[in-house]
Amino acid sequence: EVEQRMQGQCSLAVRRAPECLVCGAQHMLGAPHTAWLLGMKGEKGSKGDIGIEGIHGTDGKQGEKGAPGSKGEKGDLGPLGMMGPLGPKGIPGSARGVKGSKGDNSKVPRSAFSASLSKAFPPPNTPIKFDKILYNDQEDYNPSTGKFNCSIPGAYVFTYHLTVRGRPARISIVAQNKKMVRTRETLYGQEIDQASFLIILKLNAGDQVWLEVARDWNGVYVSAEDDSIFTGFLLYPDDVFETLV
Ligand SMILES: *[C@@H]1O[C@H](CO)[C@@H](O)[C@H](O)[C@H]1NC(C)=O
Repeated sequence: EVEQRMQGQCSLAVRRAPECLVCGAQHMLGAPHTAWLLGMKGEKGSKGDIGIEGIHGTDGKQGEKGAPGSKGEKGDLGPLGMMGPLGPKGIPGSARGVKGSKGDNSKVPRSAFSASLSKAFPPPNTPIKFDKILYNDQEDYNPSTGKFNCSIPGAYVFTYHLTVRGRPARISIVAQNKKMVRTRETLYGQEIDQASFLIILKLNAGDQVWLEVARDWNGVYVSAEDDSIFTGFLLYPDDVFETLV
């Protein structure tokens, strides 16, 4: 059969050897059976060395959402906030305060007098007796002597308002036996004038104050239409100074 093929149509077909009728392998005609040459199958070889590392793969897909974490610790106190708007007006209270205790004005020191003259041209160089009392509640002024006698130490105001007529007048305010004030009014005939003066004096208890006129200068006048008045009053007592300061 082999020879027939070779002799037949194509000698070139010899290039591809037919399967050997003996061993089934392909080999050249006339060549020894390959099977014989191959020998027995060898044992399995040892495992090869580990290969080199592969190249980095592409990123995988996003994983599923994780479970919520545990609650954190309480934070620090924050800074003070801004002041809020003014609140509404409150309702008025109902409780009335306790009544205060009654004041004591009985201890307020008082001393004042005002007296007028009833006869014109008083005798000179002696206290003028202003004998018509206008006010003298504390009786520190004595109308029978014409002297004011200090009972409360302190600062006093003394003043006079005298009518002068017919003669000139020299008028003095005497305190502690000294002439504290000296004034003059030169006037004659039917002319009428007013002489006045005011002074503040510091007095001790027992000090005495009065008015005097000089000889030939005693023109202090009074009539139904003309008054002459001597006035004095306590301005500040010494005790109140000390207790208040
Ligand atoms: C004058 O006042 C003082 C003190 O109050 C008193 O001791 C004295 O007796 C008074 N003198 C006269 C004359 O009233």
